[in-house]
Formats: sequence, structure tokens, C-alpha cells
Amino acid sequence: MATNPSGQIDSVLTEVRKFEPPAEFSSKAWVKSLAEHQALCKRADDDPEAFWAECARNLDWFKPFDKVLEWKFPFAKWFVGGSLNASYNCLDRHLKGGRRNKAAIIWEGEPGDSRVLTYQMLADEVGRAANALRELGVQEGDRVAIYMPLVPEAAIAMLACARIGAVHSVVFGGFSAEALADRINDAEAKVCITADAGWRRGAHVELKNNVDEALKRCSTIQKVVVLKRVGNKVSMRSGRDVWWDELVARQSPKCPPAQLDSEHMLYTLYTSGTTGKPKGVVHTIGGYLTHTLMTMKWVFDLKEEDTFWCTADIGWVTGHSYTVYGPLAAGATAVMYEGAPNFPHEDRFWRIIEKYGVTIFYTAPTAIRTFIKWGDSWVKDRDLSSLRLLGTVGEPINPEAWIWYRRVIGGDRCPIVDTWWQTETGGIMIAPVPGAIATKPGSATRPLPGVAAEVVTHDGKSVAANQGGLLVIKRPWPGMLRTVFRDPERYRQQYFSQIDGVYFTGDGARRDEDGYFWIMGRVDDVVNVSGHRLGTMEVESALVSHTSVAEAAVVGRPDEMKGQGVVAFVTLEGGRNGNDQLKQELRAHVVKEIGALARPDEIRFTDALPKTRSGKIMRRLLRQIASGDQTLGDTTTLEDLSVLAKLRDDEE
Ligand code: WTA
Repeated sequence: MATNPSGQIDSVLTEVRKFEPPAEFSSKAWVKSLAEHQALCKRADDDPEAFWAECARNLDWFKPFDKVLEWKFPFAKWFVGGSLNASYNCLDRHLKGGRRNKAAIIWEGEPGDSRVLTYQMLADEVGRAANALRELGVQEGDRVAIYMPLVPEAAIAMLACARIGAVHSVVFGGFSAEALADRINDAEAKVCITADAGWRRGAHVELKNNVDEALKRCSTIQKVVVLKRVGNKVSMRSGRDVWWDELVARQSPKCPPAQLDSEHMLYTLYTSGTTGKPKGVVHTIGGYLTHTLMTMKWVFDLKEEDTFWCTADIGWVTGHSYTVYGPLAAGATAVMYEGAPNFPHEDRFWRIIEKYGVTIFYTAPTAIRTFIKWGDSWVKDRDLSSLRLLGTVGEPINPEAWIWYRRVIGGDRCPIVDTWWQTETGGIMIAPVPGAIATKPGSATRPLPGVAAEVVTHDGKSVAANQGGLLVIKRPWPGMLRTVFRDPERYRQQYFSQIDGVYFTGDGARRDEDGYFWIMGRVDDVVNVSGHRLGTMEVESALVSHTSVAEAAVVGRPDEMKGQGVVAFVTLEGGRNGNDQLKQELRAHVVKEIGALARPDEIRFTDALPKTRSGKIMRRLLRQIASGDQTLGDTTTLEDLSVLAKLRDDEE
């Protein structure tokens, strides 16, 4: 993808294959035809507030809302005056009927251990954990950091926070101690819930050690709750650290749910943007839960008997919305798997699908490309006939991977829902409603009912069919982020200032002649590595914090497996020369500062970075160089990139 000087984006992808929804699938689906879908969308567009109010009534409210939306641009409040509790909606309300003994979570650990928690069992555990948090002094509005492996207790901890009105801030277990400390400090978390370690490819992920390291820089944490997961030796600081088992087991399972305002904060989740510092995206209860619940029905066509597996870690928004809140609010059975897809062998996912009879499977394109590389032989002996629907999320999926997914995993029978959304949107925004919308490989198809997505130019004008542009959302929606934690100005700046009057997603897109959306990736300084969002500025500040580095510029380049790879151009202090050893050191330094997901694929030393006369780094030029753009000729030997810059100075 390339941005041309007028800010339009040239789209090069053309794909003509189209797959109608299977008749059998449509006949049983919640939304059975294109006509029904259109009617739903029309109703939503004619009267969005009435439409969303009706959706919100699928939740259980302690007190009904009196106003659907209060929109003071760019700040929204949904379901004003209503009160509810997210954990009540995910648990208690299912206990009254036939779901009491239905499996809520089917969990499998990497070593092969497994647990099933029924709704009743999960409710009791959440009650105990909530009482434990209360005992530790956690109150409504307090922040709780959760830094855990993908074990049931991670979901229990989230729901326990929700139960008492505390705000969870889950930090992905792959982030480093440094990154954890930054997030704890920004949120001013009072308690941290962690585990001794987690399992990854048979090795330990040293979570508790990382917490100890992080807390050297944090002053707000009063207590650390430690789950014993792998049994490694960890140090427990007396007065601060408590074992989960000792604390939680002795609590009463009964903990009355706090009756919370619809706009009470449910969680904050840190995500990368265009500055060096990740931002805390804020979601509140009523709108977020409405959105995640409705998309379980629209996009995943969820039925009572489904077994739903979203492979995302709870450290990402996908795990929040589609492992925990969406499925549980809908009363579904959710599968959770702790470990790596290739442990002990490359067929682990297919064995899990076979073993539990998974019916809906939701994963990332980068995983699919990896499965393709591993080969069909890992799939062919497994019985995947329970599957009826497949999904993808996190990055654009290349049509060939889509076709492989359909053929090899879906047996040419399962529709594929390619779902576009973001941490900020809370839930899925653009995706096929599988019984109604024909799919095209590589397209997320159409916006969901009530979602006013459009492709526009920099000055907000709609672009013609098949022209690239910027993806915006023109009307508020219930699941939208409410603000950036303690930084409303950054919220306004980041999302509502670049294009007049609308929410700017940061993505480029085009809409084809059928109104289908084709997402073309980020147009800002955010890269998407293996479906993980990473700010190039974050990696730059990590590099610059190394004593040898004077200046760094980081860009993404296309990567066949990971979607994008990270390339760093680095100038050294005092005109030093770089060598391989220093490259290794810098890569390790980035891992220490952020985590393995940010490790640069390539480091290139240069005497100077190419800059415009006004001193701006010419990132587009660097992107071209990093991706080996032919038109630039051979730049690999050009040590002083500023020479190249001089030739192209007027471009950016
Ligand atoms: C990208 C993940 C193309 C996009 C839920 C977005 C996608 C960013 C898709 C958000 C998709 C997500 N097709 N691109 N189906 N889904 N993206 O916040 O660039 O981790 O802006 O949320 O991922 O990433 P985030």
C-alpha cells in the first residue's frame, strides 16, 4: 500500500472470488438472508438510539436506563442512568435456568492438564476472588493489574474486579518487566494479580520475577496475589505478596454484585499509538457489554449448543471481548488453551478442536499462515467435522491464506468471518453476518448493523468505489472507547481531530462496487506484527534508551509470516561504528524494554537518518528502503542515508 501525495491510498489488491452463505447454514442462522440484514441495518440507521436501546435490553439491568445516548462530541455516554454489573450478566443470570451446570469455560493447560468450570462453579470462584479483593482493600474504581498466563483464574480475576466495580488492567504476559511497570504506573494500580510462571513451549514464562522487577519502579501496588501455576521457586515478600490459594479458598463464594452505573469504568487496556507511550483505552460497562453480546449473535451466530474457541490471549482486547465478556454474557461454552500451537506438536489446535468438539473457531491470520507453513499433514488425521464457522481477526488476511483456511480447516463447508475492529472499538465493527452476507477472500465485507463506517479523504469527503482512503466511523456506537485513561485531550487528539467530526481509525481502506470494505492496514506509525499492535515510536524510545544509541527510526516492512516485520535504522553516539555484537545487544535491549514481540527483525546502522529540511525523519523513504523497493536502486550499501534524502528532499 502506498499513500500518494494527495493523501489517497493506492490499492493494488484485486480479488474476484465470492462465496455465498451455504443454504443449510442460512436456514438456521439468526440472520437468514441479505434482505434481513439490510432490514436490520435500515432500522439501525433510521433510528440508531432505538436500535441500540433494544440491543441493550438483552442485558439484565438493576435499574433501566432513562436515556440511550448523550453525545457531547467527542465524548459519549450510553444507556445513561442505568445500572448493572458485568459479572452478574456473565454469571448470575445464567444460574436461574438450564445453564447452571453448562460448561462456561473448558480450559486446557499446555502440559495437557484440563479443567471444566460450569457457570455455577465459575460464579462461586468469582465470588471468592471478589471477596478476596475486598479483603485486600480494593474498592470501587481502584485499578487492579492482571499479569497472568491464560488460565481460568485470569478470567476469574477479571470478573472478580467487575463484580466489585474495580477496574482491571490486564497486561499481556509476554510484556517485559519494564513494560509492566509503565502500565502499572500509568494506571496507578493498587493490587497486582499474577502467577509464579506460565507455560510456553515447555518452558517457564517468569511472571512473578518480572513483577518483582517491575515493582522496584512502582509505588502504588500494595498487594501482589500469586497463583501457583507451574510450581517454580519464587520469592514472596512478606506483607506484600500472598498466594492465591491461601487467600481465595477461604472466602465465601457469595459476593453480592455491585450495582454500577452504566458508564462506570469496566477496564483499561493499554495499546500502542503514534507516540512513545502506550495509552490506556477506557471501556465502560453498559455499552461495551451490549456491543460484545450482540456481535456474538450477529457475527458468530452463537447458539446454545455451540462450543466457541477464540485463541487470543486475554492480554489483548480480543481475549477480553471474545474469550471472556462476549461468550459469557451470551451464556456460551468458551474454550481456553494456555500454550503454544506447536506444543508438543504442530497439531495441538486441531487436537483441541477434535477433543472438545469446537464448533466456532476464531484465530489470527498470522497463525493461519504459520499452519500453512507447517503443512496439511498435521490437519489431515484430525476430525474437524464439529466446526461450523471460522473467524479471523487482527490484520488483513491474504486471500490465499483465507482459501486454505476455508478448504483445509473448514472442509469447504464453513463460512469465514473476517472481523475488523480495534481495542478502541470494543467489539467487532465490520464483518460478514455469516448466514446473510456472501464473502470475498480478504474482505471484512460490510459494517454491522448500527456501525456507520466510511472511507474518506483527509478532508472528510467520501471516496468513489474502489478508491483507497481513510477508514472512519461517523456515528458513536456503544462499544466505543470513552477516553484515554486520565488523558481526555489525547483521546480527542488521537481519534477525533484528524478528520472533522468523525472517529478516525488509523487504517486505510477501500470500498468496492458491492460496498465491501477491504482494509489495507495502518496509515499511521503503528505496525502490526503477528497481529500484535506496536507503535514504532515505542521501539524507537526503547532503542534510544540504550547508551550507545544517538537516534533511531523504526518502520515496518512486509513479512510473509508475521504480516509486518520491524526494521530499525540506528545512528550511534560519537560516530561509533556498529557491529553484529551491538546489533544483538540492541535487539535484546528492546526485548527487555518492551517484550519479545517488539524484537527488531533487522537493525541497520547509518551515519545519519534522512530528514526533511524541517528536521522530520523521512519515514516513507525508510519504509521503501526497508522493504527493498526496486525503484530506489541498491541502497543497502549507502551508509549515509542523508545522501539519499538530499536527492528526495521535497517528498514528505
Ligand atoms: C488491524 C485487534 C484487517 C487494524 C482486534 C486495526 C485488521 C488494528 C483486522 C487493531 C481485520 C484488526 N482486517 N486489519 N480483520 N482486524 N486489524 O487494537 O489495523 O490489537 O486498526 O485490535 O488491527 O488492533 P488491535
